[in-house]
Amino acid sequence: MPKTIIEPFRIKMVEPIQMTTKQERIKLLKQAHYNTFLLQAKDVIIDLLTDSGTSAMSSAQWSAMMLGDESYAGARSWIKMEDSVKDITNYKYILPTHQGRAAERILYGHLGGKGKVFISNTHFDTTRANIEFSGAEAVDCLTEVGKNSATEHPFKGNLDIKKLNDTINDWGAKNVGAVILTVTNNSGGGQPVSMNNAKEVAQACKAHGVLFILDACRIAENSYFIKQREDGFENYTYKQIAQEMFSLADGCTMSAKKDAMVNMGGFLALNNDKLAEECTNLLIITEGFSTYGGLSGRDMEALAVGFQEVFDADYLHYRITSITYLGDKLNAMGVPIMLPVGGHAVYIDARKFYSHIPINQYPGQSLVCDLYEKGGIRSVEIGSVMFGKYDDKGDLIPAAMDLVRLAIPRRVYTQSHIDYVIEIFEELLKNRRKSKGIIITKETEFLRHFTAHFKRID
Ligand code: F0G
Repeated sequence: MPKTIIEPFRIKMVEPIQMTTKQERIKLLKQAHYNTFLLQAKDVIIDLLTDSGTSAMSSAQWSAMMLGDESYAGARSWIKMEDSVKDITNYKYILPTHQGRAAERILYGHLGGKGKVFISNTHFDTTRANIEFSGAEAVDCLTEVGKNSATEHPFKGNLDIKKLNDTINDWGAKNVGAVILTVTNNSGGGQPVSMNNAKEVAQACKAHGVLFILDACRIAENSYFIKQREDGFENYTYKQIAQEMFSLADGCTMSAKKDAMVNMGGFLALNNDKLAEECTNLLIITEGFSTYGGLSGRDMEALAVGFQEVFDADYLHYRITSITYLGDKLNAMGVPIMLPVGGHAVYIDARKFYSHIPINQYPGQSLVCDLYEKGGIRSVEIGSVMFGKYDDKGDLIPAAMDLVRLAIPRRVYTQSHIDYVIEIFEELLKNRRKSKGIIITKETEFLRHFTAHFKRID
């Protein structure tokens, strides 16, 4: 059997990459105040900032877009999107939204408010922000094994059932807005959740009479791991696995920018008549009428096709094994990464990689800058720049970990792009003790990582 996993597609349209020299990138990064969010995309060679909205669409998606029906109400494109989403989720009500956080704002804004709590394996940033903005609290109940970057375990995204029951009992079931299972668990390294765990969550929610919602952004990637790692699913298709997981919950929020392989789109799906009616009213007030919710007809066409395509066995095999390929190579050369490799990204443990850089000099941001200067690679720090706070004396309270995420866009880069990333890491590894820390020179109170200015320490 040949070892090479080839991309299961041919390329018929290309987007040129503008090459830059190291000298140019040193200048460009300085101009961007050492914040890669402030770089122009044209100055990036390999963009691993996010896997969200960055997928390459297929010829089937592009051709479907030409059929876009832009009618305000009841468009043919909406019927196709609704049919496609219902086919996979089997929920009664599908509410289109422009992206995932719009679905979150509608549902959690409505269910939240002071005195309410939401419980998740790990709330993604926008999920947490929408919950907290409503006045409610967001409690993470990840299993202990999921918190350790070096421990191998097949389902490090699982929700801790004991903690779940304890939290529901502490708050009282009537104060629980919803239990949210994020598959895969993005903030926890893209780690999967097992079907058995989802079943236990569903049972606990049923026993307490609490709403169970899936954050289904990466449900297809999660299904791949279940088929490979969980007993009893060997003969299921990926789509059947996803259908079974959806059947356990009362609804879902979805950023279609991930596993529906579109550049923009999302939805909220529910079974409960009353809740769906209330959310539909909010949808109409802020997103758009219930048959487009902020999407154009052509967006809905692309989503209808993409949400089916993502379950293709060859695609998913290529997708997950190509990310494992990057992770395994980095791990073998001695780059400390989160293990096992997750579904959409490889996470570098920057605190270990740059162990000579103190945490208050942001080793993660330093690595992000080095990756850009050395190779034109854009990544993102998920650590003390993103989540750090200050104590009363103004000293940094660091994040639990200082990670750098290499998120891989779907169907965009080939193996040679990934080999190039690996070669840049080889060079960084050789000179890693020479790398310098970083200080913040300007920051905002909230979400500082997007706009902060930094300086390298000489
Ligand atoms: N839930 C999860 C698990 C996510 O990863 C994201 C987005 C969202 C919800 C929100 O969806 O962006 O469509 O509003 N994650 C992106 C990322 C931004 O880079 O991981 P959205």
